[in-house]
Amino acid sequence: MCGIVCYVGKKQAKSILIGGLKQLEYRGYDSAGIAVQDGSNITCHRAVGRIVELEKKINGQEINGTLGIAHTRWATHGEPNERNAHPHTDPEQKVYLVHNGIIENYGLLKKKLQKEGHHFSSETDTEVLAHLIALNFDGSLNEAVRRTMSQVEGTFGLAVIHRDAEGEIVVARRGSPLIIGLSDEGNFAASDVSAMVRYTNQVVHLQDNELATLTLDDFAISTGQAKRIERTVETVEWHAEDADLDGFPHFMLKEIYEQPETVMNAMRGRLEPGEGVPKLGGITPVWDQLKTCRHLVMVACGTSYYAACVGRYIFEKLTDIDVEVELASEFRYRKLNFPPNTFIVALSQSGETADTLAAIREAKRKGARLLGIVNVVGSSISRETEAGIYNHAGPEIGVASTKIFTSQLAILTLMALLLGRHQNLSLTEGVEAIRALQALPAQIKKILSQANHIEAIAEKYYRCPNWLFLGRKFNFPIAMEGALKLKEVSYIHAEGYAAGEMKHGPIALISPQMPTVAILPKDDMYEKMVSNIQEIKSRRGPVVAITTEGNREICDLVDEVIEIPATLDFLNPILAVVPCQLLAYYCANLLCCDIDKPRNLAKSVTVE
Ligand code: F6R
Repeated sequence: MCGIVCYVGKKQAKSILIGGLKQLEYRGYDSAGIAVQDGSNITCHRAVGRIVELEKKINGQEINGTLGIAHTRWATHGEPNERNAHPHTDPEQKVYLVHNGIIENYGLLKKKLQKEGHHFSSETDTEVLAHLIALNFDGSLNEAVRRTMSQVEGTFGLAVIHRDAEGEIVVARRGSPLIIGLSDEGNFAASDVSAMVRYTNQVVHLQDNELATLTLDDFAISTGQAKRIERTVETVEWHAEDADLDGFPHFMLKEIYEQPETVMNAMRGRLEPGEGVPKLGGITPVWDQLKTCRHLVMVACGTSYYAACVGRYIFEKLTDIDVEVELASEFRYRKLNFPPNTFIVALSQSGETADTLAAIREAKRKGARLLGIVNVVGSSISRETEAGIYNHAGPEIGVASTKIFTSQLAILTLMALLLGRHQNLSLTEGVEAIRALQALPAQIKKILSQANHIEAIAEKYYRCPNWLFLGRKFNFPIAMEGALKLKEVSYIHAEGYAAGEMKHGPIALISPQMPTVAILPKDDMYEKMVSNIQEIKSRRGPVVAITTEGNREICDLVDEVIEIPATLDFLNPILAVVPCQLLAYYCANLLCCDIDKPRNLAKSVTVE
């Protein structure tokens, strides 16, 4: 949510910052701005809309300076207009800053400042920070930011420059990610490594309530209490090419097509085919307690939550562990009472989702043990959990999550299999599961080879304003995920239901104008799904069936068939979701939607 990038170095800052903003645009894209310092002069430009609007605005203008800050916004306080776009400044235009997060006590602070004669030019919470930092400045920008941090409540990732602090950028964080990047050509800070991975893979993660001063050839981190912190420099494994479209028209499509590889990466080095037991080095630190755990709670939001819902069925199939799944945003308000040795598993692509972070903090307070399944290395959730498993899926840039979902399912399966093999699961079952897991990448490729067929189905139905997705057991969460994908990228109204619930309400909606996507691989739920389809067909509702390869009998009953290769019942969701992703993508494309940047959405939801 909102993207920050800043640079101080030997090169001209303008083009580095604009390039960085483009990589961050998926975090928020309703307005953008840039401030570049040249000696004691600071030039600031802001524009409503995408980064390209900002580029148009500054095109042809000479903006000299080798130090600058930039921002792409997802509005929280104040509508997306130029006045509310960042950078913000103080009345004397000495301080310029960009901010991610929400200043919760800004109302009180603003009133106090107004009484003292301050005039505000925006409706944002952020502007208060600029006024306070200017008031707190007495020669040291670092000190002014530190003092301001002690006056504000809420969350922030912050980058600040000052006319009288030449050659310095001060960055600070509380609850909103900020990463420092180091290179021979200068130093960076950004809310996401993708903004700087073109220049460096050497990074340092700023932690909550820390601030840092960046100069051309140095950085210094300290706490809110001015205690100096030494932190090791880490190497990130993401590459500049990961952030490119690589010939695809959209990141969503690119990421759908990456799934054979990302599912493979989730399993790479983690399978022991002969023993039928996966190896998960990331959970070794807690293994002694985890192997005796009988109660596990998964918490997550959105697509990660639906992965957790599939995970519950997989754990129930392969282990004797009781599994609960909770929406992170609700979990923290529940009366939590965990049996001893309860583990919480937080699933998150970004590792920064505010609700998921708040949920694990609450669970920790109540004595639970914490595990994470996270894609972004070094992210807040990965640091705040005791142990965990990384997806190693590379950056996910399309706002709609696709490749991380299947990667999360692969990892949940490995975890369940590992625990199951230490319980009642036999060697034969373990070996069979690993063989089936190894076959998945090729099977996903086979589904992707039907893309034209799926596009043709989308062409037939994309004008229908309402869709239903149905599944049972392992594939009930796939129905919900399929509906979520369709609505978020195409704005078509879609609902995902457990097929058994049909007759308790949704059947009232069935009509020739309302397509149903029925997910019915040949498993023990198949016959029940067929009965549901009969009910829909007798009301003349069109049905698109996602079923197991070679299932001919379904063709007589439904309007369209998409085949997925045969696998074990608990692995069907990894395959069945792929046609749902493609259907959503092609419908959105036919409706000319902005697929990678759907309206009102942003990647990495760092506010509650
Ligand atoms: C949907 C989507 C969101 C995220 C959710 C959680 O396509 O991307 O629903 O899944 O915001 O995000 P993470 O996984 O980063 O915690």
